[in-house]
Amino acid sequence: MSDDDKSVLRAPRGMRDFYPDEMAVQNAIFSAWQSAACRHGFLQYDACVVESLDLLKRKAGEEIEKQIYSFQDKSGRDLALRPEMTPTLARMIAAKQGALSFPLKWFAIAQCFRYERTTRGRKREHYQWNLDIVDEQSVSAEAEVIATAVSALSMLGIGSDDAAIHINSRALLADLLDGSGIPRKIHGAVFLALDKLGKLTDAEVSASLESAGLSKENVEAAFRIMRLETLDEARKLLGEETESYRELLSLFSMLSHYKIDAMARFDISVVRGLGYYTGIVFEAFDKAKRLRAIFGGGRYDNLLQDLGGKPMSGVGLGFGDVVIAELLSASGRLNGISPTRDLALGYMEEAQRLASMAAAEQFRRQGRSVDLALRNQKAKAFFSWANKSGFVEAAFIGPEEVLAGEVRVKTLEDRTERSVALPGC
Ligand code: HAM
Repeated sequence: MSDDDKSVLRAPRGMRDFYPDEMAVQNAIFSAWQSAACRHGFLQYDACVVESLDLLKRKAGEEIEKQIYSFQDKSGRDLALRPEMTPTLARMIAAKQGALSFPLKWFAIAQCFRYERTTRGRKREHYQWNLDIVDEQSVSAEAEVIATAVSALSMLGIGSDDAAIHINSRALLADLLDGSGIPRKIHGAVFLALDKLGKLTDAEVSASLESAGLSKENVEAAFRIMRLETLDEARKLLGEETESYRELLSLFSMLSHYKIDAMARFDISVVRGLGYYTGIVFEAFDKAKRLRAIFGGGRYDNLLQDLGGKPMSGVGLGFGDVVIAELLSASGRLNGISPTRDLALGYMEEAQRLASMAAAEQFRRQGRSVDLALRNQKAKAFFSWANKSGFVEAAFIGPEEVLAGEVRVKTLEDRTERSVALPGC
């Protein structure tokens, strides 16, 4: 096979194929997302994967804007594969704002595309579970979306030993920066520095802050803020209980009533790369912080009005399939997840084909999933295939079974058998 032929057989870099075994894992993740969202009263929505480039550019953060897969359609319209769902959600709500009832709780499982450098946990295409609550000012919205994500994690076997939710507030950061005399117009530079903390050296962070226009005293003040470890330390530096501080305090108290406070912690370094967040922001990471964020989100106040809608505040998160699959695989929790194969039904001769079809249909009407052989075969070959393929049960119909009007259904794990009457045909 030539190199060209070989590369045609591979999915494009960063894109993924799902063979049935991988699809079983994917379905387990989707099912946890779906169940947790339904358990918490979110309604499902969906939208086209192709969006107008203009909408995405207006609403995406600077980093995502560079990663957009864009193209022109045959009429020259500028379109793109969505890199995230939030601009689309805002567009859909703004378009029907008068007809929808609020506060609204919606979820989607959206395929998203970002032209990123591919690494562990980072692909060019991923599925993202989006949970959003729109038009609720109180932090009960933040508590509810975080608790819903934690429900999904727990359905997948991930608890406080494996992951932690790091919570901060852009409003609290702004209050801290204001209090330290750092002008509003350069707050953005400090947010950026926080995002780079740990990835760059302190000297590099200082240099970038100075080049963004911060004085030496400002840089020192920024570092004092960036080194805050607890919410209490933040209050002391603020010198008073600001609204942003009280909101965070109240969120932590709510999370303790959801019994998930063991997973939650204050973390001044969480700012989120996306430009539209205005209040509380959060990210969940594996305990060792080896992977990219499992999920991330926060409050956005201006998205709807920026699209011409009535002003409404929203809170939401995106939870990707790639990082959680890595985490599940690393902790051995994917062992045993394989496509469900219930009952295999085979037959010896062409003469038993129709009776087998009628039997399969009888089992299916009882709610069983039946894989009926497409052609006749020897019993030995049939049972060997059924065993190898991981079926729970297998039954084989020969002339004797048709004559007796019953078939033995074998449980493959313990080799026990039971007789089941065949339908008259
Ligand atoms: P985000 O932090 O850009 O937020 O993405 C959310 C999650 O999607 C990440 O934590 C990660 O699990 C996953 N993810 C993102 N990019 C990739 C990638 N290239 N490969 C694999 N996984 C990835 C948002 O997109 C916001 N729109 C979330 C949101 C919804 N905020 C409010 N509502």
